[in-house]
Amino acid sequence: MANPSFSTHLGMVDILPGEVEKWQFIESRIRDIARTFHFREIRTPFLEDTGLIARGVGKTTDIVSKELFAFERGDDRYVLRPEGTASVCRAYIEHNLHLKGGVQKFFYMGPMFRAERPQKGRQRQFHQFGAEIMGSADPLADAEIIAFMVALYHSLGIKNTTLRLNSVGDPESREAYKKALVEYFRPNVNLLSDISQKRLETNPMRILDSKEPEDQVLIEQAPVITEYLNEESAKHLRQVQKHLDRLGIEYVDDPRLVRGLDYYTRTAFELSSPDLGSQDALGGGGRYDLLIEELGGPATPSVGFAAGLERLLIACDALNIPLGTQPELDVYIVTRGDDAKKWAFRHLKPLRDAGLSASMDIANRSMKAQMKEADRELAKWTLIVGDEELQTEQFTLRNMAESYEEKLHFADILKKLVGL
Ligand code: HAM
Repeated sequence: MANPSFSTHLGMVDILPGEVEKWQFIESRIRDIARTFHFREIRTPFLEDTGLIARGVGKTTDIVSKELFAFERGDDRYVLRPEGTASVCRAYIEHNLHLKGGVQKFFYMGPMFRAERPQKGRQRQFHQFGAEIMGSADPLADAEIIAFMVALYHSLGIKNTTLRLNSVGDPESREAYKKALVEYFRPNVNLLSDISQKRLETNPMRILDSKEPEDQVLIEQAPVITEYLNEESAKHLRQVQKHLDRLGIEYVDDPRLVRGLDYYTRTAFELSSPDLGSQDALGGGGRYDLLIEELGGPATPSVGFAAGLERLLIACDALNIPLGTQPELDVYIVTRGDDAKKWAFRHLKPLRDAGLSASMDIANRSMKAQMKEADRELAKWTLIVGDEELQTEQFTLRNMAESYEEKLHFADILKKLVGL
């Protein structure tokens, strides 16, 4: 066994050939579905300004207060993006995308970084795909974004999921609710976990998200936000529910659903799967009507979601859903001797130019080792070349699955393989 001098940092994972094909399969499925929903791809840098993330995601959130990978260089403060929404908002403002008019629908995929304690389904570099609709306050936009999220899971056959839906209200409703929560928890503050005691001061709604056992009884009896929603917010939620009903998308009303990011207004939702273990959220999102304005842009009501690709893969594995497989190799040229090697190296090009995948030994190995490699690389055909074949210009083409061979000129081999 090798004794490596270096290994990946905690929570950072290599994705090796074998796994990568599954990723490519999922990524191409995401692109297909994005096309049918007519969302356009947006790519933003992995490094953002710390101020953007602190303002966008919220200073008191775990993501900003504990989990940022941040560094300074000269006068600039960089952060590895922990999520995509703040970046898409920044790009929307920076490039005046609102001037294009109408509603804009974006999707993205890529790595995100949070310095969390790694466990199954939780990494420090993980991957999200997400989507944002900017410029619509209509509940139809909320239903459209949820439909997009759900479509991917359904298309893969992941159906035993739970969609939880809530409204976290607008700032007015939320202030009233926060006050009620503080009044409720304050007399029993000593019964709360340390972390929830802190949150009572900084961000009382986050107590509802606590997993600490000692908090659960109090949380169960806590007032629910539904009772504090003003008429506009309550109406918005009812309309989202109706649109989801019409689409046949099942959901569970969960008045205790709060999300770990501060920018939400009104709709909040999360999709979970029992196949994931303790980190059971496949994805989540909600409406953020004030964020773009808060970041210096024009008032732009928006809604979005993001979902973890690692968790999607875990769910597929648990359900034995087949994803991409190892790519086959069309032709492997097996060579005997130096001249054969030179010939083979030249003839890879016409094969490849014809669109076939072609490979050969480039480490001076025996014919036996070459045949082994052809098997391992799932070669459909081997082309066997030695001195005799070079003289007669007739090469042995072997079908690996059916174990039959024939001798042909190279031009005929090319024709045959391209024509298949
Ligand atoms: P989030 O709930 O923080 O939302 O993350 C979305 C999803 O990313 C989670 O449900 C989970 O599947 C995955 N995820 C998060 N952290 C990790 C981790 N450490 N390891 C593996 N997977 C993880 C957002 O990020 C918002 N930007 C969603 C949004 C978009 N809201 C509006 N627009």
